[in-house]
Amino acid sequence: MCGIVGYVGTNPVLDILLDGLEQLEYRGYDSSGVAIKTESAINVYKAVGKLKNLREALKPYISDISASTIGIGHIRWATHGAPTIVNAHPHTCNCGNLVVVHNGIIENYKELKLKLEKQGCVFRSQTDTETVAHLVAQKYAQTKDLTKAVHLATKEIEGAYALEIMHNDEPNKLVITKRNAPLIIGVSEDGYYAASDIPAFIKHTNKAIYLSDNQVATITPDSLKIEDINGCEISPKVEQLPWEPVALSKMGYKHYMLKEIHEQPDVIRNILVGKLHTSDSPIELNEVKLTKETLKNLNRIQVIACGTSLHAAMVGKYLIEDFCGIPVDVEASSEYIYRKTVTDEHTLVIGVSQSGETADTLTAIKQAKARGSHILIITNRPDSAMAREADSLLSVNAGIEVSVAATKSYIAQLTSFYLLALYMAEIKGTVESDKLKHIKSEMLSLPQKIEQILSSKSEIQACARKYSGTKDFIYIARGLNYPTALEGALKLKEISYINATGYPAGELKHGPIAMLDETMPVLSILMNGSVYEKILSNSEEAKARNARMIALTNSSNDKLKDLFDYIIKVPDVDETLSPIIAIIPLQLIAYYIAEFLGKDVDQPRNLAKSVTVE
Ligand code: F6R
Repeated sequence: MCGIVGYVGTNPVLDILLDGLEQLEYRGYDSSGVAIKTESAINVYKAVGKLKNLREALKPYISDISASTIGIGHIRWATHGAPTIVNAHPHTCNCGNLVVVHNGIIENYKELKLKLEKQGCVFRSQTDTETVAHLVAQKYAQTKDLTKAVHLATKEIEGAYALEIMHNDEPNKLVITKRNAPLIIGVSEDGYYAASDIPAFIKHTNKAIYLSDNQVATITPDSLKIEDINGCEISPKVEQLPWEPVALSKMGYKHYMLKEIHEQPDVIRNILVGKLHTSDSPIELNEVKLTKETLKNLNRIQVIACGTSLHAAMVGKYLIEDFCGIPVDVEASSEYIYRKTVTDEHTLVIGVSQSGETADTLTAIKQAKARGSHILIITNRPDSAMAREADSLLSVNAGIEVSVAATKSYIAQLTSFYLLALYMAEIKGTVESDKLKHIKSEMLSLPQKIEQILSSKSEIQACARKYSGTKDFIYIARGLNYPTALEGALKLKEISYINATGYPAGELKHGPIAMLDETMPVLSILMNGSVYEKILSNSEEAKARNARMIALTNSSNDKLKDLFDYIIKVPDVDETLSPIIAIIPLQLIAYYIAEFLGKDVDQPRNLAKSVTVE
C-alpha cells in the first residue's frame, strides 16, 4: 500500500520517478506526487487520482525541473485522510525545506502531532506522515545533519514505515530508512534508486541492496553509507536480481490480468520442474526443512492467509487432511492475530501470501514464530519480509503479477499445496501408491488442460456478455471446490463490483435460497466425483426457484441441458485436481464481464495489491 521511489544520480530524475511510480501503481492509485531538487529549492508537485493526472499537472513546469537529478515520489493508497491534494505526498515541514514520502502507518502520530503542535508546528493535512516531516525538521534544527536527524526522529516513531527524506540545506543528499515496510536500493553506475519494490527501477539496474529494519542509508550521487540503529556503519550486500524488465510488459494483451491468466500453464510447468518428474518418482521438496521424523509426528497444522491466498489455503486444508490425515485449521490472518490462538512448537504454521508483505499475515506469522512453531511460507516473493521469517520457504515463482486481482499466483499457490500434501503423504505413507501415481500423472497433464480451456475462451466470453447486466451472482459448489466458488465470486466482485457470493451448495436452502428468482444467476461448479449428485440436487432446488442456471462442468451428461441455461465445459480431470481446472473459466468470466462493463480491470477501485496496513 502506497509506493515510494527516489533517485540520486547524474540522469534527469523526473522520468525516472514517473516511470518508477507507474510500476508501483499496483500499490495504490488515490493520488501521487514528486519532490524535485532544483538549484534554489525543492519543488513539490501533486495530483489526485491516477498517475496520468500528475503527468498532466507537471506539464507547465517541465522546463523548471527537466535538468534536475535528485528527487522522490509517492503513489498513495489513502489510510489517514481523504485522497486530496493536501493529503497527497510528499509532505513538507512548515518552512518547506524538508520533504518526505512515506509508506506505512505511524501508529503514535496523534501523540506526536499534539507534542509538535505545542512546539509551534502547523499541520495542514490529516495524514500520519506529516508528523514525520515536522519531527525530522525539528531534529534537523538541533543537529544540522539530516542523517542524524532521521536517526533521532525514528527513535520516537512507532509503527511501520519506509521513508525517503530530502532537505534543501543538504542539496545532494537523500536519506532513507525503514521498519516493517519494504525499501530496496537499486545500485547503478549512474546513481542510486530507492523504492518500495523492484519494478520501480529494474529497467535501470538489476543490482540491489535490501535495507533491513532500522537501518538508515545516506545517499549522494557517488556514495552510499548505511548505518544500523546505533549509527554504526555497516557494509552493504549488493545482490543480483533475477528479474527481467520484459516481465512488466503486457505482451500484446489488453490487460495484465488476461496476460497473467494465459501464463498459468507455464506457471504450473515451472513449479513442477525439479519437484515432480514423472508419475513414478517421489515428490522432491528440499525446501521443507522439517525432518521426516517431525513431519511424521505432526499432529496439527494452521494455515493463515488473506483474500485469494486464503482460498488457496482452504483447498490446502482439504488436501492435507485427505492425503495425510493431519487436522488443518485455516484462518484469516486478521482474525488469527486478535485472539488467543493455540500454537506451539508441535504445530506447523503455514503462511500463504502472493506479495509476502500483507501486514496481517506477517504479524500472524511473527506471533506463531514467537510461540515456537515451525513457519512454512508459500509466497511469490522470496525477497519479501514474510519470506525472511520462514523456517521453510516454498517460493512459487509465478513471476511478477501486475494485475491487482490475483490469478496466476493463486494457481501457483494451489500447485504448491498439492506438492506439499503429496510430499507429506509419501513420507507418512498415508496414500496408496496407485492413487499417488494417478494424481501425479493428472498433475503433469494440468498445463495442457488449462491450455485447452484458454483456446476456447470465446465461449466463456459469450457467457460473460450474457450475464454482464446482472447486479448479483451466486456461485455454488461442495467439498474441494467450495473455495473455488469463493474465489470465483471474489474475482467478479473485485473487478466488476457486482455483488457475487460463493456458498457451499448444501447451505443454499438454509437462507440464501430466499434471494433466488428469475433475475439471479446461479453458477454451479459441478465436477465429476463424490459430490457431483449432491450439487446436481442443489442445482435442481435453485432451478425450481426460477434462478438463471449456469453449469461449470466436466460432465458429459446430456440431462444437464434441461437443467442449465448455459453450460461451460472443461476437460475431464480427477476430482482431487478439479480446483485448478475449475477456477480458470471463473477468472475469465470475471475478466470478460469487467472488460465488457468498461471497468478498470488491472486497477480496480479502492484496492491495492500489497496490503501493508492492518
Ligand atoms: C484478490 C487479491 C487479494 C489478496 C490478499 C492477500 O485478487 O489479490 O485478496 O489475495 O490481499 O494478499 P497476499 O496474497 O499478497 O498476502
